[in-house]
Amino acid sequence: MFGSLVNCFWFFWLLCHLMNYSEAKRRLSWDCFDCHIGQQYADGIKCRVSGARRSLLNVDVNLKSELDAIKTYVKISTRFKPAIAYRKFFDITFDGCRVISDMTQGTLVSNMFNAVVKSSNQPRKCPIKQSLIYYRNISIEEALPVFVPSTDLMVQVDFFSKRNLYLNVSLRGTITEK
Ligand SMILES: *[C@@H]1O[C@H](CO)[C@@H](O)[C@H](O)[C@H]1NC(C)=O
Ligand SMILES: *[C@@H]1O[C@H](CO)[C@@H](O)[C@H](O)[C@H]1NC(C)=O
Repeated sequence: MFGSLVNCFWFFWLLCHLMNYSEAKRRLSWDCFDCHIGQQYADGIKCRVSGARRSLLNVDVNLKSELDAIKTYVKISTRFKPAIAYRKFFDITFDGCRVISDMTQGTLVSNMFNAVVKSSNQPRKCPIKQSLIYYRNISIEEALPVFVPSTDLMVQVDFFSKRNLYLNVSLRGTITEK
């Protein structure tokens, strides 16, 4: 009798912790957001951080030439203390044209992608025509899974068209527990 009461107690204790854990959202604030685009591709690009907690990203780019291929390279690096150097956490290369046209729902990548395009006029298929493309209030924070640790983060994204690097994005930020 006593034993099962203790078990019951532990069960509730565990349950409470699991519930707290799943509600422990991550916060992501950006210190630095840099973009460079080749002059033959665009009349400049503007990348800035906004929001009271510096959690939102905004991009405006005025495309001068049509893009029919978007090879994308993403590298994510982390460091757990400011005193140490960033180390590569993972990198990935993918076909951006495929990602924008056939995103399957409910995966980590699609959650990230939806966070990026939520308030954007980004076309959903290639080729991407000459136009002014904007992204407002990109909140990666919302798409972060709870198992992501607190860390300093560096994100580098390179976009290539026919082997030429045309757009460079680099971001530095910090993930903390709420
Ligand atoms: C990419 O970034 C580097 C510096 O980080 C810069 O030297 C280079 O010109 C950039 N590429 C483009 C296409 O702007
Ligand atoms: C972006 O966020 C700001 C608040 O940080 C808000 O004032 C603005 O309306 C938002 N814009 C869009 C397009 O969601």
